[in-house]
Amino acid sequence: MPNYVGKSIPRVDALAKVTGKALFPGDFEMDNQAYLKILFAGRPHAIIHKIDTREAEAYPGVLAVLTAKDVPVNEYGLNVKDQPVLCGPGSTKANADHVCFYGDNIALVIAESEEIASEALKLIKVEFEDLPTISTIYEALKEDAIKIHPEKNDNIFRHYRIRKGDVDEAFKKADVIIESDYETPAQEHAYLQPEAGIGYIDEEGRVTVVVGGQWTHEDREQVAHALDLPEEKVRIIYPAIGGAFGGREDMSVQIVLGLAALYLNRKGINRPVKIVWSREESIIGHHKRHPYFFHAKWGATKEGKVIAAEVDIKTDGGAYIYTSTKVMGNATLMCTGPYEIPNIKVDSYAIYTNNIPNGAFRGFGGPQGAFEAECQMNKLAEALHIDPVEIRKKNLLREKSLLSVGTPIPPGVSIEKVVEKTALSGGWKNENNSWMQDPKKKLTNTSDKYLHRGRGFACAFKNVGFSFGAPESCTAIIELHGKEKIEKVIVRHAGAEVGQGSHTVFKQMAADALNIPIEKVQLTTSDTASTENSGSVSASRMTFMAGNSIRGAAQMALSKWENEERPAISTYTYYPPKTTPYDPETGKCEPNFSYGYVAEVADVEVNTETGQIKILNVICGDDVGKAINPQLVAGQVEGAVVQAAGYTLLEKFIQKNGYVETRTLSTYLIPTILDVPDQIQSVILEYPDPIGPYGARGMGEMPFLPLAGAIIAAVHDATGIWFNRFPLTPEEVLKGLGKI
Ligand code: MOS
Repeated sequence: MPNYVGKSIPRVDALAKVTGKALFPGDFEMDNQAYLKILFAGRPHAIIHKIDTREAEAYPGVLAVLTAKDVPVNEYGLNVKDQPVLCGPGSTKANADHVCFYGDNIALVIAESEEIASEALKLIKVEFEDLPTISTIYEALKEDAIKIHPEKNDNIFRHYRIRKGDVDEAFKKADVIIESDYETPAQEHAYLQPEAGIGYIDEEGRVTVVVGGQWTHEDREQVAHALDLPEEKVRIIYPAIGGAFGGREDMSVQIVLGLAALYLNRKGINRPVKIVWSREESIIGHHKRHPYFFHAKWGATKEGKVIAAEVDIKTDGGAYIYTSTKVMGNATLMCTGPYEIPNIKVDSYAIYTNNIPNGAFRGFGGPQGAFEAECQMNKLAEALHIDPVEIRKKNLLREKSLLSVGTPIPPGVSIEKVVEKTALSGGWKNENNSWMQDPKKKLTNTSDKYLHRGRGFACAFKNVGFSFGAPESCTAIIELHGKEKIEKVIVRHAGAEVGQGSHTVFKQMAADALNIPIEKVQLTTSDTASTENSGSVSASRMTFMAGNSIRGAAQMALSKWENEERPAISTYTYYPPKTTPYDPETGKCEPNFSYGYVAEVADVEVNTETGQIKILNVICGDDVGKAINPQLVAGQVEGAVVQAAGYTLLEKFIQKNGYVETRTLSTYLIPTILDVPDQIQSVILEYPDPIGPYGARGMGEMPFLPLAGAIIAAVHDATGIWFNRFPLTPEEVLKGLGKI
């Protein structure tokens, strides 16, 4: 009996990737291809009065120069179409002549070579009228601040409210109150593969874009909208993708590639158009993780029960909306942690600035919310002289607990077990019904007087799947071929493989659902011409959603097979339980249909002379429901922990007055092998989600969430200092220690 689920079978894409055979978007070469370069605004806020492209067009080897007037519908955006494809005068979209951030696209040059296109870019003359730059949320909120989008009368573009119980009354009863301000930084995705792709007209006349993304069908929708084409006339194909992490949720080169191919085609020139962004173009061209600003006030009884939490959240959305409203939805829900707190008041505000737009990044607002929540919880524990694990045990969400938004959490709530197992693995013990660090497992300092060791604990919950009423579904097509016996199975699925291993688990789940050897399963993936909408690889949803769709399609195909249909083909769309948006006054809603639960222990060593922090060990307990492929799960845990360690200690994205100062990976530092924790222990827990396929929950983002909070707590344990913002670069640490 086939039984692939739960086994660490090799990745289906491993061989091609390690031998260099796998083609990433930048690797595609087509006959007679032309090259595309983008003229970026290069300034943060301005009105464009005139663009003169004549000299560039006359440059030998230039095929075309495109500006705003050449975009059929000059607008796009994942949630709100608030961004021009090309900034400048002459298009139908109001205010498209406004540059709102440094990376706004102004013109496209299509030429015989990249060099020619680059030379021609310099010949484009743009007449700008600079406007005052809003580089912080505080400037954006000033009464007399210029409105970044003049058609809107406010730089605040979203406000959520949660009202549960009565915080003012509850604070009166609290024995201890912790009130703090926190800041979390921007973060660059720094995926291995900068944006690239190729656009052409396929044999069926479709505008086709080969590109890296996270949701083929959403890319198609946005390209079709901007080109004013029906969706059937646009095709999106994802080949191998070199990482995404949320950074490919929004458009980068998709629309301009489609536009360039279509423009040439309409001029009677049938040539593919290729683009490869440099690292610098990637850094200025795509969104970042949102910086968040919190003011938090939490109150607890002396027994350690949190009875009130009041949180004010402000986030820098940057120049356009992108996924800001959704990301803030998560941060708003997660800012009170995986705890049942009877009285909650949250106000959150998403604010425009002239910074690079901020958007999706692994955890999607969860890490920011979790950081504030876990710091508050650890500070309450300290103030009350209660062990950090013990205090959590008194407050954790349980089955039927009411969330901050007034509705019960969906069944399958495992955070208590996750906290216990992680604590046990991380040096805690449970004695006489109370949790404490095991003296035998405590960290000990070395003889070096500058090296101080400390241990921290944090936990989190994170939704699986789209939240707050966003339409959510996933479609699989399964074909069974053969005569007597099933000889071959084709699984058609749009779900993207961004390096996380989705296609491998698709195959495992399909083989098990059909009860056939895995060698018989072939995948056709990530091409809108041959697959149906899967939704995005985001929100830790793909294993969960694809598994349910594949299982549904397999069941239908098998019954057709039994009815002698040859080939037996079925299409199945899985719809999870419905979610609902925040009520505008109280926030009451059913935010999500499933959650994953995670806890982490971090052991660190702080050098109080140099300010350097070394992570000795991270223990990550993650309830994944069912590890479809345990090795891939461990890989996701390790990757998330390293990425979160970079976020917490190292990665400092600097923008000044709307100009990016860290445009390369030599100034924006990400972890190298020398910076990763000495040890990462992944404790994979399997408490099934009642509606997950094989019990699986999502897990790709979860291990990211608690790490910053755990590290900050460990640094406090080592030094006695609470840091309320990060990255904890040596300079920041020395400042905190009062040494500089
Ligand atoms: Mo993600 S940040 O949900 O792509």
